Amino acid sequence: MFLKLFLVMVFLSYLALMSLILGHRFFPPARSTPLTRRDTAFDDTAELIVELENVGKSFDYPVLKDVSFKIRQGETLGVLGKSGSGKSVTLKLIAGLLKPDVGRILFHGKDITGMNERELLELRKRVSYVFQGGAIFDFLSVGENIAYPLRERGMKDEKKIKERVDYLLAAVEMTNMGDLQKPELSIGAKKLVAIARAIANDPEVILYDEPTTGIDPLVKKSVNRLIRKLNKQEHLTSIVVTHDLKCIEMVADRIILLKDGVIHFEGDQEAFHSSPDPYIQAFIAGKRFDEERRQNPEDRIQNSEDQRQETGDRRGQKRE
Ligand SMILES: Nc1ncnc2c1ncn2[C@@H]1O[C@H](COP(=O)(O)OP(=O)(O)OP(=O)(O)O)[C@@H](O)[C@H]1O
Ligand SMILES: [Mg+2]
Repeated sequence: MFLKLFLVMVFLSYLALMSLILGHRFFPPARSTPLTRRDTAFDDTAELIVELENVGKSFDYPVLKDVSFKIRQGETLGVLGKSGSGKSVTLKLIAGLLKPDVGRILFHGKDITGMNERELLELRKRVSYVFQGGAIFDFLSVGENIAYPLRERGMKDEKKIKERVDYLLAAVEMTNMGDLQKPELSIGAKKLVAIARAIANDPEVILYDEPTTGIDPLVKKSVNRLIRKLNKQEHLTSIVVTHDLKCIEMVADRIILLKDGVIHFEGDQEAFHSSPDPYIQAFIAGKRFDEERRQNPEDRIQNSEDQRQETGDRRGQKRE
């Protein structure tokens, strides 16, 4: 009896070993593409929602010189670029918070650059902006922060407001946290509240400015998941501006990279990651290096030293 059992075990082990060896040989492991990377297949015949045509914007210097791109219904566009390359300015132009010096910005084919304040208010109901700092009101609880845009739009029925707030809290995985106050929230939770507030009035487009900056890796993951979920379930068209390559990998259908006031690259994830362009290669390598350093506790001390030095240097530059 024991001998039979032993033989069966040996035979099963042999089968398992062979299937491993043969499986590996005939089905080699996939290329090192992260499993979390978004499937970039996207319907490029979908309706055009936002179009930038030869947009230019200068402050002390030309920030955007000649920028043109289009976003289609349901698409998530990732916008990359080093600090100061004009990513936030691009979002503010699309939200009608800034006006371009030259060029046109179309929303559903209508030029927003000549719109008056009343028309711009209407636009901002359909195009929602999650600001870089994830700003929420200090003096309101989480629930009241989310209810704010609903009340502003004239919703009065308290039962309906509560239902909508509860729905939005659940959407951002913060069920039963409506009574929390701002000091009780982590940076990540504040970003989630800011996103819930931004989608409260069912916008068509959502503009995320650095949604994952400054938050820990676990919360980062849930913010990325949330962006993806909103895109799929609420059919939102999204633009995500970020320094965070992992975020872009998870959420973006298409990527643009801004450099020197123009679009240096436009394409999908594969084209971006396999691009031989030295600037893109250096950008990816630099970001990976930054991400790894941030995750390594020993380097964190060095990082803060670097930051102190950088800030000191900047102050020094300003004094000069
Ligand atoms: N309202 C403004 N007035 C004057 N200069 C501005 C204004 N807004 C932006 N700028 C300048 O335009 C440049 C681009 O700013 P922007 O905020 O778009 O950069 P960014 O790419 O978002 O950078 P970061 O990654 O650091 O957020 C910066 O040099 C900034 O100082
Ligand atoms: Mg910015």
